[in-house]
Amino acid sequence: MNNFIYENKTKVFFGRGCVKEFLTCLVKDYDTIMMGYGQGSVKRNGIYDEVLGILMREGKTVVEFPGIMPNPTYKKVMEGVKLARAHQVQMILGIGGGSVMDCCKAVALAARYKGDAWENFWDRKGIVDFEPIPVGVIPTTAGTGSECNGAAVITNEEEKVKIGYDYPKCNPEFALMDPAYTFSVPKEQMVSGAFDSLSHIMETYFSGPDRDNVSDDVAEALMRNVVRNLRTAVKDQEDYTARSNLFWNSTLSENRLIKLGKKGDFGCHLMEHQLAAYTDCNHGEGMAVLHPVYYRHIYRDGLKKFVRFARNVWEISGEGKSEEALAEAGIDALADFIREIGLPATLRELGMKDRKQLGEIAESCHFSPGSYRKMTSGEILEIFQECF
Ligand code: NZQ
Ligand code: ZN
Repeated sequence: MNNFIYENKTKVFFGRGCVKEFLTCLVKDYDTIMMGYGQGSVKRNGIYDEVLGILMREGKTVVEFPGIMPNPTYKKVMEGVKLARAHQVQMILGIGGGSVMDCCKAVALAARYKGDAWENFWDRKGIVDFEPIPVGVIPTTAGTGSECNGAAVITNEEEKVKIGYDYPKCNPEFALMDPAYTFSVPKEQMVSGAFDSLSHIMETYFSGPDRDNVSDDVAEALMRNVVRNLRTAVKDQEDYTARSNLFWNSTLSENRLIKLGKKGDFGCHLMEHQLAAYTDCNHGEGMAVLHPVYYRHIYRDGLKKFVRFARNVWEISGEGKSEEALAEAGIDALADFIREIGLPATLRELGMKDRKQLGEIAESCHFSPGSYRKMTSGEILEIFQECF
């Protein structure tokens, strides 16, 4: 295991009715609260009314910050910064999916910073030596794990870059997680979110050090849990047990816990982020297209781990198979699962019409230092071409 420091300040309140039960006491120290939300789902499913009702009853001044889009832009962040500063907002409450939570965390950071926030916190990893505006979140999707980390993945449209770094100071103060709040998520988004969680686990698992370590064992349990519960939730979206497991699983996959002691290979994430910067594609769907192809490129460099994945996650017998054949069978099982749950498997299915931009996208990708094999821009382009 590599050395590590573990910190996670977010206090989680999990379960049906948690917003009604705990929100009042969590906001008691703040008079002016900015309520950040997306493009309308919270109004349609009643969550907006429930939260606003509580805040109004408590006599809070509420500053609304609506319209946060999927793949939130830096322009949108700066709109929030302007509002937060103008109203001297004391707390930001983000209600929505990963995009809303990320945008609110970004506003909290940038609003308290006097310099160029993009240059110093997104363009490169910076040092947060001040206190961002406190953030509380009410996640309404399962997948990103944004509720319990300090990352805010933001798209700079002018620079065609989508990026985010995990700053512990940007962790929300609290996360109110009611699995029933995720019932109304459209099926495609539910599946995409669950695949995002699975990606976070795989990307940690398929990286060194590979000697006996807690993280890899926990990761296998988490992967089996996503697969099992997503199959149940696809059949019945209102299965509370399945949705609870998917919700908590997404937090555990991205709250730093399984990353401890591991390098992590976030190569697929880095590729997907650039794909989204150019095409605005859905995050989990982009991950689904990229993963099997990427793994077919690198599995020989981490053969034993891919064999373990086939055996322990997909329960494939090794009898009569070489190690290579078994590793390949594990990747095939992953690809079959992607099809089974209805995720896109090619860039065409993701909506891309032609290959014109692939070279530029590949060229703009960062490399992941934790990969079993160091990628080149040429190989990244090959991966995109095969995904097409
Ligand atoms: O905008 P609204 O109307 O709210 O609709 C959203 C959106 O259209 C809808 N939705 C959310 N909750 C709903 C709902 N619809 C009905 N009922 C509900 N309860 O779902 C759509 C997608 O929402 P979005 O927030 O974009 O999805 P997700 O949670 O997958 O977040 C994706 C974003 O998070 C980033 C991704 O890159 C992407 O920008 N990530 C953030 C990470 C982090 N902070 O740690 C890590 C991830 O790897 C990821 O990069
Ligand atoms: Zn992700």
